[in-house]
Amino acid sequence: MQKLTIAIDGPAGSGKSSVARRVSAILGYLYLDSGAMYRAVALKALLRNVPLNDECALSTLARESHVELRRPNPEQEAAGANNQVFLDSVEVTSEIRTEEVAQAASRLATIQEVRKVLVTEQQRAGAGGGIVMEGRDIGTVVFPNAQLKIFLEAAPDVRAERRWKEHLQKGHQITLTEVMEEVRERDRRDRERKVSPLVRAADAVLVDNTAMGIDETARVIVMLVKDRLTQSQKAGNPS
Ligand code: CDP
Ligand code: CDP
Repeated sequence: MQKLTIAIDGPAGSGKSSVARRVSAILGYLYLDSGAMYRAVALKALLRNVPLNDECALSTLARESHVELRRPNPEQEAAGANNQVFLDSVEVTSEIRTEEVAQAASRLATIQEVRKVLVTEQQRAGAGGGIVMEGRDIGTVVFPNAQLKIFLEAAPDVRAERRWKEHLQKGHQITLTEVMEEVRERDRRDRERKVSPLVRAADAVLVDNTAMGIDETARVIVMLVKDRLTQSQKAGNPS
């Protein structure tokens, strides 16, 4: 059976990670969270006190960093765990999930040279197909020839509330207003940057999951995958 490359892009809290993970589990595809790579390099910059406006130092840092995303074990996967993230062989899976790291990641993500390093890694990881990769520029830059591109959206207040609930569950001290402001600022920076901004690719399917759960959204995407597979079979074997 042919395996597709599936690109899922969208703003913060739109459900990319949860939905991409579910789709990959249903299809038996690999899953890659490209944002985790930006977050890992951002964490390193914060730990080393590298100024977030020093493009040269940040580019060197990205080139010299080894970020590895590993698949969680089956029990962790069943419990909905993300990719495990290792920075220079040290696990940073939970350390990268703070709002401070998210903001630093979006600043670092405006730098062309940093993106070049991480995009090359993402292309290498997805070269064999059979992958669901999510981020901001997957359908536009990383895999412009992906057979299925999804632009995942949800209303801004719903996205912020989802993210806030996650923080509450983890015991982070942060208010809904603070999360709303963080998400708003990051969305603006991601959409307005000059290099690989967050935009819907012309051939991406827009899926708004404001009023949809993770399972339902994943089912819609799996239906689209089946449709693409049928179309490509027909094109290969015209009857
Ligand atoms: O990766 P992204 O920032 O786009 O979003 P996420 O981390 O997958 O989802 C953010 C939060 O929203 C998670 O806690 C999900 O469980 C939740 N979510 C939801 O409640 N309903 C959806 N349709 C999608 C995500
Ligand atoms: O989970 P959430 O959607 O909040 O963010 P993320 O996917 O972990 O990405 C963190 C930041 O990395 C984003 O705000 C973007 O600035 C950047 N990023 C990017 O520029 N390109 C990607 N392919 C993935 C993330």
